[in-house]
Amino acid sequence: MRIHLVGVGGGHPDQITIQAVEKLRAVDVFLVADKGDGVGDLAQAREEILRRHVPGDPTVIAVPDPARDRAPKDYGTAVLDWHDARARAYEKVLLSLEPDTTVGFLVWGDPALYDSTIRVVERVRDFGTLDVDFDVTPGISSVSMLAASHRIVLNRIGGPIVITTGRALLDDVAAGADNIVVMLDGNLTCRELAGTGSWSIYWGANLGTADEQLVSGPLDECMDEIERVRAQLKAAHGWVMDTYVLRTRA
Ligand SMILES: C[S@@+](CC[C@H](N)C(=O)[O-])C[C@H]1O[C@@H](n2cnc3c(N)ncnc32)[C@H](O)[C@@H]1O
Repeated sequence: MRIHLVGVGGGHPDQITIQAVEKLRAVDVFLVADKGDGVGDLAQAREEILRRHVPGDPTVIAVPDPARDRAPKDYGTAVLDWHDARARAYEKVLLSLEPDTTVGFLVWGDPALYDSTIRVVERVRDFGTLDVDFDVTPGISSVSMLAASHRIVLNRIGGPIVITTGRALLDDVAAGADNIVVMLDGNLTCRELAGTGSWSIYWGANLGTADEQLVSGPLDECMDEIERVRAQLKAAHGWVMDTYVLRTRA
């Protein structure tokens, strides 16, 4: 069984490469994680990508996403348990398909950046119950979209950039990071750094969608505006996805 993991960008059907479209067109059956309520717009974005780029009526199987422990004692173990549960759910569906089926996963943004699909499919392969092989097609990540929308270069000349999560941000700052991309930060952890006069922010939400929102400037001055815009998007759509660059002010 061949599995294509295809990066499809962050929400806009134009933000997908020709290589990705060719992979999508070679797929017999798409598997999508069904995350339940509150992500209707995201499911619609996926449907629109298929409608625009895959002729006919592609077969899509929604696989109920296993519940995840959101307040675990040990974060790493909880994530691995969740990957395992997801892999078992996919394995069950894959076992019901013909062995020569080509299966596709639409992966948000780029599969190599804060996404579990590669690891989960590796697990399915390692269970040994299926003869599976997979390939990965890169996609435009939210980080690239953020930089393009703000018209910035991510690194400073010759300098490094740390890509991290809201959960790890304060530790990374304590370790000396001063030019940072932050993802997966539903709590806006950057609030903890406001008031110091030290940081600039380039924030973007729902990038690539009709409702894309951008705020940039000194963190101290932008924080209230970011919280307001974020709450507005969440109220309008039931979800919001945001990413930001934090860097020390010159
Ligand atoms: C599970 S990660 C997936 C990242 C994805 N693989 C990528 O390459 O962008 C989800 C996080 O990506 C960021 N993200 C994804 N899509 C986004 C978008 N359209 N606008 C802003 N941030 C986005 C947010 O930080 C969100 O919490």
